[in-house]
Amino acid sequence: MPFTSVKLNDGRHIPAIGFGTWKIPQDVAGDQTQQAIEVGFDHIDTAQVYRNEVEAGQGIRDSGLKREQLWITTKWSGVDDKPVRQSCLESLDKLGIEYLDLYLIHSPRLCKGDIAGTWAEFEKLKKEGLVKSIGVSNFTVKDLETLLKTANIKPVVNQILLHPYVIHQQTPLLEYMHEQNIAPEGYSSLIPLTSRQGGPVDKPVAEIGKRLKVEPEQVLLAWSRAKGAIVITTSSRKDRLERYLAVGDITLTDQDVEAIDKAGRKGERDEKRKTQMVRGVKWAALGGVGLWALARLL
Ligand SMILES: NC(=O)c1ccc[n+]([C@@H]2O[C@H](COP(=O)([O-])OP(=O)(O)OC[C@H]3O[C@@H](n4cnc5c(N)ncnc54)[C@H](OP(=O)(O)O)[C@@H]3O)[C@@H](O)[C@H]2O)c1
Repeated sequence: MPFTSVKLNDGRHIPAIGFGTWKIPQDVAGDQTQQAIEVGFDHIDTAQVYRNEVEAGQGIRDSGLKREQLWITTKWSGVDDKPVRQSCLESLDKLGIEYLDLYLIHSPRLCKGDIAGTWAEFEKLKKEGLVKSIGVSNFTVKDLETLLKTANIKPVVNQILLHPYVIHQQTPLLEYMHEQNIAPEGYSSLIPLTSRQGGPVDKPVAEIGKRLKVEPEQVLLAWSRAKGAIVITTSSRKDRLERYLAVGDITLTDQDVEAIDKAGRKGERDEKRKTQMVRGVKWAALGGVGLWALARLL
């Protein structure tokens, strides 16, 4: 079944896959956003800190779609220490739109210890009608618990890092969000292909891809979807964008998901061991230098 939408806890429906504009240079961000919409994406994910909201807005207008045909998310990233409301108004102006579908706290760090106060500002924006839905990003279970203690409105989503090499650490968060009816949006699910190539996840992904006759990036996005996430991804290439959308028709078996999880957990453990070893070698080297200095003093 092609990608459809996910019902959020405020009753609104979000398209289940979104095109992100992180790292897209300003000179091509308009064209790439327009390309994604023309291929079939109807959900754009940007942020104050990506510094390409103006260009993304241009791409949206150039697509010729009506405002209500698109879901537009941006994030308060605390750029230049600008307060929430001012940042929201500036993002609307840059994107050239009257309202946002979704506005996110980009990271709990930005709240500087005052999650409750920051969330209250978000609630005001929703009441004012500047944003239709409000949510968070990169929140841990503890951050969500803090927010929920004083919130009048629940965040509809938590946009989080979601790839096989972090599945072990993210599973309790996914479970908590499921209990609280806060939808996960997963980003950077293609990390095994973009920055952690050669790890244990490659093998099951290649095998599943071969069996289903699909590309590795499609297997990884199907995995993210199998985790219950709204998929947030990106590509500069039309062929890849088309393949991403085709993931809606790919269903992984429980065994497929488990094989990828298992390989991801192994990769996570290997990485931890490597970090510990590097730390150990550093300490040993420091110890050696200390002993040498002591020997020279005596
Ligand atoms: N909330 C947050 O803190 C946060 C953080 C990070 C990201 N995000 C959001 O999530 C979006 C996606 O993030 P991401 O870029 O990290 O996502 P991603 O989906 O993991 O990676 C997308 C990249 O994968 C590349 N790619 C696709 N297939 C590939 C293959 N077979 N081999 C090698 N490379 C391949 C694409 O390159 P090509 O262009 O060459 O196709 C593209 O640049 C962002 O734009 C942003 O909206 C949010």
